Amino acid sequence: MKINLSNIKKAKKLLDKSECVAIPTETVYGLAGNAYSDQACKKIYKLKKRPKNNPLIVHYENIKKLKKDCNFNKNFQKIYKKFCPGPITFILDLKKESKISKIVTNKKNSVAVRFPKHAVARNLLKRLKYPLAAPSANLSSKLSAVSSKDVLEDFGNKIKYILEGGKSSIGVESTIIDLRNKPKILRLGGLQISNIKKILNKKIYLKNYPSKISAPGQLKLHYSPGIPIRLNVKKVKDNEAYLLIKKNKKVKKNYFFLSKNGDLKEAAKNLYSMLRMIKKNKYRSIAVKKIPNKGMGAVINDRLIRASKFK
Ligand code: TXA
Ligand code: MG
Repeated sequence: MKINLSNIKKAKKLLDKSECVAIPTETVYGLAGNAYSDQACKKIYKLKKRPKNNPLIVHYENIKKLKKDCNFNKNFQKIYKKFCPGPITFILDLKKESKISKIVTNKKNSVAVRFPKHAVARNLLKRLKYPLAAPSANLSSKLSAVSSKDVLEDFGNKIKYILEGGKSSIGVESTIIDLRNKPKILRLGGLQISNIKKILNKKIYLKNYPSKISAPGQLKLHYSPGIPIRLNVKKVKDNEAYLLIKKNKKVKKNYFFLSKNGDLKEAAKNLYSMLRMIKKNKYRSIAVKKIPNKGMGAVINDRLIRASKFK
């Protein structure tokens, strides 16, 4: 995508005044504000209707800028060197002298940080004197946005500006890893755990992984298109939308294919926009055919399991 500098300058101008701007990233769009400004961060929570105790991710251009705010260890450096910028978020210790707003961290001494790869986001970050707090640009508990159109659909003119960046190339949120003690995955996402394992060469713990949660009530609704979802369905009802990983021989009006040939990366990229489309086509519920639980398939299943908590 060609970079439009005047758009980026317009976004900067608003951000400098502690306004919120939606920005593209390679995972999903973010609702961004100056992470050093209480005023900007308060606006983010209000716009998203996000509970105040759910902290925000802070986006940096590079490790040099991060150094002012966070402490980090060898494990961080290894992953950073290999995969950043990219779809991975780190939980790190805050430095005492950090300028990050207490509203971002909910007064904790840890913070989530990420280095987005999207060229528009990077160009913007390069011009700013502060990092950007940016949760996914959607209403709390709903589907993330993978295009400027999705953001507009959720927020209308409540957001001052949406910086155009085309469709997000990964289409699901970043992987979150807590590196303060033993490496622990807090959210499956764009960077696969097997890749991280290779680099760290040690056991990686999984926390909050849906298939390991015994009591279903433990999972809160998230990533929801706003209609019920049934998983691992072999026989779809006539009035349901049927979501399948790949095109099959039978093609009916209510069949929606996430990819042509079962490519799981392609399927992840299409997941949220397809769920939005099904909802727009006025289906009352969605049935999903079993999706292989490997690679990006595990991420798709993670999101669908959480979305299926909608009753
Ligand atoms: O791909 C992404 O990560 C996107 C793009 C815009 O960067 N952002 C995103 O942000 O998904 P959000 O806010 O929707 O999800 C961030 C998650 C939240 O579930 C939050 O609870 C968690 O990160 N988080 C933030 N700070 C944390 C901390 N200090 N410790 C543990 N979890 C934290
Ligand atoms: Mg989110």
